[in-house]
Amino acid sequence: MLLAIESSCDESACSIFDTSKIKYNKTLDELIVDEVISSQVNLHKEFGGVVPELASREHIKNLPFIVQVILYKNKIKFSDLTKIAVTSGPGLKGCLLVGVSYAKGLAFSLNKPLVGINHLEAHILSAFSNLKLNEINEFLPALALLVSGGHTQLIKINKIGQYQILANTTDDAAGEAFDKIGTLLGFSYPAGKSVSEAAKIGKALHKLPMPVQGDYNSFSFSGLKTSAALYIKKSALELNTKEKREVFVNDFSASLEQIIVESLISKTEYHLSQDNYKSLILSGGVAANSVLRKRVCDISSKYSLNCLIPRPELCTDNASMVGICALLRSNFIENNSINTSLEVKTRWNVDEVANL
Ligand code: KG4
Ligand code: ZN
Repeated sequence: MLLAIESSCDESACSIFDTSKIKYNKTLDELIVDEVISSQVNLHKEFGGVVPELASREHIKNLPFIVQVILYKNKIKFSDLTKIAVTSGPGLKGCLLVGVSYAKGLAFSLNKPLVGINHLEAHILSAFSNLKLNEINEFLPALALLVSGGHTQLIKINKIGQYQILANTTDDAAGEAFDKIGTLLGFSYPAGKSVSEAAKIGKALHKLPMPVQGDYNSFSFSGLKTSAALYIKKSALELNTKEKREVFVNDFSASLEQIIVESLISKTEYHLSQDNYKSLILSGGVAANSVLRKRVCDISSKYSLNCLIPRPELCTDNASMVGICALLRSNFIENNSINTSLEVKTRWNVDEVANL
């Protein structure tokens, strides 16, 4: 049994995989025995964002508890665990330290192998969850659009463990744009999901500027944030009834969603046209957005590519993606050497992941 742990931001999560089933040629999803997530969203809501020190303290309280729960619920003993995987970066330092220290202690006491997983690689590889382990190479090379609260990147995956960043975040990430502009519309943190719900009711009638398009190697959403803030402030003067405000919030959400999605899609299409790929991957928290999911499937069909998008629960932070990443790094599964000297890396690009 593999225990996977995630604590890089505001979710404490653990997941258990039955590694004995690998030989039966199952999909990665079929190896998942159970997963538990304890979200801190309600705690951070009133501050409008994650408060790192509070987040670390919550992980200290919650992580040992959810591991006990998952083991008890599934009648698994600590001694049944054969491998431990934990997110060791990038993320908030205190939060990573709690997860890594806990995982180290567990691995040391059980005398079992431990591996540190890159959170971004885990997001990307979660897109393979419904594929069989021996099929995955047929889906490569792939282009991955990784869109989370902290990152907006286009990454070429040559093979598992070998990544090339083609376009990167220069300021606010796509998720951050949803969150910050959504907060100005009156939604609580994290606002991405609420914006996408409101957008379903609204019409994209408001004209917002397209984020910088010329530079295909970077993503920038801070200009959009400034324009949106000014637009909302100006419009507020005319919104003198509850009904008018509601219509504005829904229509503005639809406009915002459309502009963010189209700016992501146009850069993705540019990079698809520059190289040969077998698949297009969408992952990270913003990949839970249904309009973006549909547009990514549309352009996958246009370029005759496999479209790989994790199920919505695997898009936002979770521990199953950490386990999937560990399982896909076959060296880790075959290697039984015990090494509990793992350090956290608050900054860690996906093209810097060494072989595990
Ligand atoms: O990957 P993730 O869970 O955490 C990070 O690693 O950052 O991503 C969280 C981000 C937040 O910005 C959240 O607002 C956004 O994903 N998000 C969404 C949706 N669901 C979550 N953004 C747009 N539409 C959604 N449905
Ligand atoms: Zn994440």
